Amino acid sequence: MRAALGALDGPFDLIFVATGALDGAGRPPEKTLKSLDPAAMAAQFAVNCIGSAMVLKHAVCLLPRDRRAVFAALSARVGSIGDNGLGGWYSYRAAKAALNQIVHSGAIELSRSHPRSICVALHPGTVATEFTADYAARHSTVSPPHAARHLLSVIEGLEASDTGGFLDWKGDVVPW
Ligand SMILES: NC(=O)c1ccc[n+]([C@@H]2O[C@H](COP(=O)([O-])OP(=O)(O)OC[C@H]3O[C@@H](n4cnc5c(N)ncnc54)[C@H](OP(=O)(O)O)[C@@H]3O)[C@@H](O)[C@H]2O)c1
Repeated sequence: MRAALGALDGPFDLIFVATGALDGAGRPPEKTLKSLDPAAMAAQFAVNCIGSAMVLKHAVCLLPRDRRAVFAALSARVGSIGDNGLGGWYSYRAAKAALNQIVHSGAIELSRSHPRSICVALHPGTVATEFTADYAARHSTVSPPHAARHLLSVIEGLEASDTGGFLDWKGDVVPW
């Protein structure tokens, strides 16, 4: 991450982290506690939380200090504890909840050095990508270009007071 981001010339007005995975170490999301596996959990945290956290770490010096700039990371509504009425998907949910905490803490720190920065976690909706290929039949989906447009519109409308927040593709706050 240091090599990749360190090779870029900033500053950037928007840094957007769109990585993530539903499978961990080749295992699908868990339906029951019996399926919990340490290697799969570690893989989930690596891609859904730690990777994004490392981007944030190395992105700070790429953000302007004197004007509005946004750091956004794709989280997921299922990472919400308050919204979790179904259970299951333990590792993915937990990794996204951990990502939300990193984004929230990062926003507090960034606001000291980059007072006009906005750092958010975003839920994109259910999007028809490879990610949802095994699950999309049971949910209505939007296309990736549609999802991207929704998210860019939310990002455009963000205000300084939104920093540290967890918002969905409509710009509505998602409970922690
Ligand atoms: N699709 C949805 O309905 C949905 C809903 C809620 C949240 N999200 C979140 O949205 C984000 C993007 O999902 P998507 O639907 O766009 O999925 P996707 O089409 O499968 O894209 C996932 C991206 O993550 C990258 N990636 C996966 N594992 C990686 C690893 N170990 N190291 C580095 N990069 C890795 C992939 O890179 P490669 O292309 O190189 O493999 C790809 O660019 C994820 O964080 C996901 O949790 C998606």
